[in-house]
Amino acid sequence: MGSVDIAELSADDVDELFAMFSAVVAAGEGYPQLPPLTRDAFEAVWVRGVSAVIAARVDGYLAGAYYLKPNFPGRSAHIANAGYVVDAAWRGRGIGRRLIEDSIVRAPALGFDAIQFNLVYASNPARRMYEALGWREIGRIPHAADGDDAIIYWRAV
Ligand SMILES: CC(C)(COP(=O)(O)OP(=O)(O)OC[C@H]1O[C@@H](n2cnc3c(N)ncnc32)[C@H](O)[C@@H]1OP(=O)(O)O)[C@@H](O)C(=O)NCCC(=O)NCCS
Repeated sequence: MGSVDIAELSADDVDELFAMFSAVVAAGEGYPQLPPLTRDAFEAVWVRGVSAVIAARVDGYLAGAYYLKPNFPGRSAHIANAGYVVDAAWRGRGIGRRLIEDSIVRAPALGFDAIQFNLVYASNPARRMYEALGWREIGRIPHAADGDDAIIYWRAV
């Protein structure tokens, strides 16, 4: 694998991210959106109201991305929400971990002092990594999707 370049996603590359996220939604992985993913549903997650979208590129290919945005308005807008995605073809090579670590470093520069995940399905293997990287389980939502519970995670940054 070539070197992983992590930098802000350019506006020209949004279509590429739409394709990647559509595939993740089509596979039913990690997110609540139903396939087929509409452009509007994609933009609700990855475009509208985001503070930053960061891309991981390997040899020019978009391998993964994450967003940071306020999880709440006003007085609680200092708490970020983040979402991570790595294209299935590039998984298991440490790109997801690099993106998560990057978000921990970048969030304070964007004015956040915590990152909260609202809906991590109990069956998601990414949970182990979130916990290893310092996220604390602060709640559990029963039967959040298809009988699977969801965990709310929080960590200070
Ligand atoms: C979660 C995701 C971003 C991880 O990306 P990745 O590049 O494969 O992750 P890494 O290669 O950095 O692996 C990180 C760790 O998580 C573990 N892991 C990640 N995904 C895993 C999976 N599907 N199955 C088993 N273990 C997994 C790895 O073993 C690794 O552990 P280690 O660092 O202790 O060795 C990616 O699987 C993905 O996009 N999933 C679909 C969308 C999703 O669920 N996003 C999160 C929503 S809460």
